[in-house]
Amino acid sequence: MNKKIFSGVQPTGNLHLGNYIGAIKNFVELQNEKDNECVYCVVDLHAITVKQDPNLLKNNIRETTAAFLASGLDHKKSIIFNQSLVPSHSEVSWILGCTARMGWLNRMTQFKEKAGKDKEKASIGLYIYPILMASDILLYDSTHVPVGEDQKQHLELSRDIAQKFNSDFNCPNFLKVPEPLIQKRFARIMSLKDGTKKMSKSDPSDLSRINLTDKKDEIINKIKKAKTDNSPLPADEKKINERPEVENLLGIYSSLSSQTLQDTINEFGGKNFSDFKKKLSDLVVEKISPISDEINKMKNDNTYIDKILKGGAEKAEKIASKKVKEIKKIVGF
Ligand code: TYM
Repeated sequence: MNKKIFSGVQPTGNLHLGNYIGAIKNFVELQNEKDNECVYCVVDLHAITVKQDPNLLKNNIRETTAAFLASGLDHKKSIIFNQSLVPSHSEVSWILGCTARMGWLNRMTQFKEKAGKDKEKASIGLYIYPILMASDILLYDSTHVPVGEDQKQHLELSRDIAQKFNSDFNCPNFLKVPEPLIQKRFARIMSLKDGTKKMSKSDPSDLSRINLTDKKDEIINKIKKAKTDNSPLPADEKKINERPEVENLLGIYSSLSSQTLQDTINEFGGKNFSDFKKKLSDLVVEKISPISDEINKMKNDNTYIDKILKGGAEKAEKIASKKVKEIKKIVGF
């Protein structure tokens, strides 16, 4: 079966190693599998659910697109565009907002985390954000959605919305119920400073993450300063559970070298951290520096990036507007 892939990344700056390992690296692998049809979206409408500086947002849309391309996405093989150029996303989001239930949204843990203590001051957009995400996915009849672990609940909501719409309007299988593609391992890369916290764009400490735009010496310095403990590296996979920082660094190494955690443990078990960190720095530099260099090069060519986004949006709109027409007919407009 040919898979229809959809995924999105918010252009909110500081794209990091978690985004790369949890999502973008897989986007590229899926794009390069035979017969897959891939749509990758820079989700700028999602970004404005929290306050953005308009000039910075514009740069971040381009930088996220540059990160896609620098990581190996190819606009000739995949549709690459930014969400706000395709009005169907907002239009369908309203309709599906009338299918989604308050109770479902009230359970979304990411809203609770992002809104923090002062829920009353959060934007309505932040609250209904998963409905827009469902619209993104369902508009393209997506069968598979590659994401990191933190998006699992939002994907379940997309599935619920599709099923309820199909049942409410008696149109079985009209909205395709998408499968999440979440890796069994390394789907949650943690902060370099605290192995119990997700690596995140919004962490105030830049030392907590490796940005895709970091220079070689910044990467080396961040890995040198990454939190570890005093024991040598474990020789057995079962012994890392109580050591989240160690598990995270071994996970990053395993993912970037495309080997299992056990392979990495076999390589480094019993050794001290200085040897391992040196090898890890070399590997991260080898994988991330070329991406960083490429992003920096593309920074000087807004025309090129804008042309790719516009071309992608035209292709996306063709698919999406057809689906919107069908949805409107079903609803009775
Ligand atoms: P966003 O922009 O927060 O993150 C983009 C992708 O990166 C993954 N990710 C991580 N993976 C592993 N470890 C981490 N520390 C880490 N941090 C982020 C995320 O899981 C995600 O896959 N709502 C989405 C964007 C979106 C979307 C969509 C995704 C909008 N519409 C439709 C899929 C399909 C978001 O905010 O991702």
